[in-house]
Amino acid sequence: MDRVAALRGARLRWALLGTRVALPGLCPRGARAKAAIPAAVSATAETPGNGPGDRRLRTLDEIPQPGGLRNLFQLLVQGYVLRLHELQMLYKVKYGPMWVTRLGSQMYVNLASAPLLEQVMRQESKYPVRNDMKLWKEHRDQQGLAYGPFTTEGQHWYQLRQALNQRMLKPTEAALYTDALNEVIGDFLAHLNQLLAESASGDHVPDMAHHFYYLALEAICYILFEKRIGCLEHPIPQDTVAFVRSVGLMFQNSLYVTFLPKWTRSLLPFWKRYLDGWNTIFSFGKKLIDQKLKEIETQLQKSGPDEVQISGYLHFLLTRGQLSVHEVMGSLPELLLAGVDTTSNTMTWALYHLSKNPEIQAALHKEVVAVVPPGQVPKYKDLAHMPLLKAVLKETLRLYPVVPTNSRVITEKEIEVNGFLFPKNTQFVFCHYVVSRDPDIFPEPDSFQPYRWLRKSQPATPGVQHPFGSVPFGYGVRACLGRRIAELEMQLLLSRVRRGEAGGLCGPGRADGGHGEERKGDTGRGRVEESRGWRSQILTPMRVTPQLIQQYEVALAPETGEVRSVARIVLVPNKKVGLRFLQRQ
Ligand code: HEM
Repeated sequence: MDRVAALRGARLRWALLGTRVALPGLCPRGARAKAAIPAAVSATAETPGNGPGDRRLRTLDEIPQPGGLRNLFQLLVQGYVLRLHELQMLYKVKYGPMWVTRLGSQMYVNLASAPLLEQVMRQESKYPVRNDMKLWKEHRDQQGLAYGPFTTEGQHWYQLRQALNQRMLKPTEAALYTDALNEVIGDFLAHLNQLLAESASGDHVPDMAHHFYYLALEAICYILFEKRIGCLEHPIPQDTVAFVRSVGLMFQNSLYVTFLPKWTRSLLPFWKRYLDGWNTIFSFGKKLIDQKLKEIETQLQKSGPDEVQISGYLHFLLTRGQLSVHEVMGSLPELLLAGVDTTSNTMTWALYHLSKNPEIQAALHKEVVAVVPPGQVPKYKDLAHMPLLKAVLKETLRLYPVVPTNSRVITEKEIEVNGFLFPKNTQFVFCHYVVSRDPDIFPEPDSFQPYRWLRKSQPATPGVQHPFGSVPFGYGVRACLGRRIAELEMQLLLSRVRRGEAGGLCGPGRADGGHGEERKGDTGRGRVEESRGWRSQILTPMRVTPQLIQQYEVALAPETGEVRSVARIVLVPNKKVGLRFLQRQ
């Protein structure tokens, strides 16, 4: 499904949303022609009997199937095209946990229970397939660029992931980025203070997700490219503005080119704009990579190969020798795009619910204050002592799985699910949103109850949920590459909940030089000393430690009201989330 695949991770604010018809989330389009399921299923499916030779054949007809016209009506007329996750809820009530939908000749097997998801996921092969990402691939092919983790498949994907996973996937490796993230978060909070000071009431931010977008972009760029790109500065540097605009351009125009026939490409402006958007994204990445290469070269000339210290992720990838520069250039922009809407929306949802649940917010404040010493920012080791913080994020992702609908094509073999034997290339749709609100797994599923994740403190709750009830980062070898840094980023942000020592509004910049110590009396914005490499950076010290919930009680702005989720590939709020930041006494 190149249409949807092309939009993966998109900031679809700009979307022509009405055009996204009947496409089940991240479902792939690839291998459609091969998936001759109806005949094959009816020929091979069985119901379990007493032994291997005693299984009654089942036919595809036994899987419920909403009528095609009715499905279209619901999507287009009733507006479920933007709330596919809600339509899946209704379908589950009506049809049970497994049903079939069709788009043209393509059949999708929708799965909406944890045991069914488990059955498919556990049978995944070495090289799982999610999407064919055709539209993204077209750009790479045209420009002679390498495929990244989203666009590549098979053994090449596997090798790429082996290389990219390092310094990224393990929690202890992600911990290396704590100082970098704390630095960005410090600047973000200073920026937030400034916004508050400029607001009419002195405590109001009308659109939290917008600001979290810039935080997430700055953070992921710093981690991947080891460079600050100035998203939290005023004014934002020109090439960063151009980059942000090009991300918008690419996603916006990918919608048009997705739905318009190919022959319109030379007649209408959308295809060119789509390619231009991508080209700016890639040249932004190339510039940063070239700079790093130059840096490494200079270091080599100065001190020789044994003396050069690996600084960060990009440096590691470039010097490790597992990936060529060409491959690094193809991969990093894909990581970058995956790392922005995901964390920014989750942080928005988390603050939304904390603002609606002051007692949970107070408990979180208490937890953090008990762990983080006054005047310091949280360190990686502190997070291990903050179970409620983690539970808040788990609960947020349970209610709003960023990817509400994911998919897998099992390409290598037949697969038995629920008593049916499906042939190769069957397309399975994982209805994650539905599953993570299953009342059998999560009692009172629509309410925000982080304590449900804390077994010891809540002996009355079932505690141990089904392991596939909420899998917001996916599963298996193809699961989210950025999970650990996403978690770290969100935990570090939310754990900035201690009241700033200096009280009142904090000055700009970060206070601790990335080492957790506040240096009072210093002024000026943090500055990385470029020549020293990323981990050995020196920052000019700051004034005070800007904080979030430590300093403020977060309340919902009255104009916000009830917020619902909209499935624009990633699950986003259906309106601006306005918040008030009230000074704690
Ligand atoms: C709240 C934050 C995030 C959530 C909930 C999330 C969720 C997901 C999910 C559900 C998938 C698909 C997994 C599957 O099919 O099994 C995925 C894939 C991916 N994510 Fe994330 N993600 C987040 C943040 C990030 C960040 C910060 C990065 C940046 C490095 C990132 C990079 C990727 C990449 C590269 C893939 C594709 C992996 C592959 O196909 O091999 N994600 N993510």
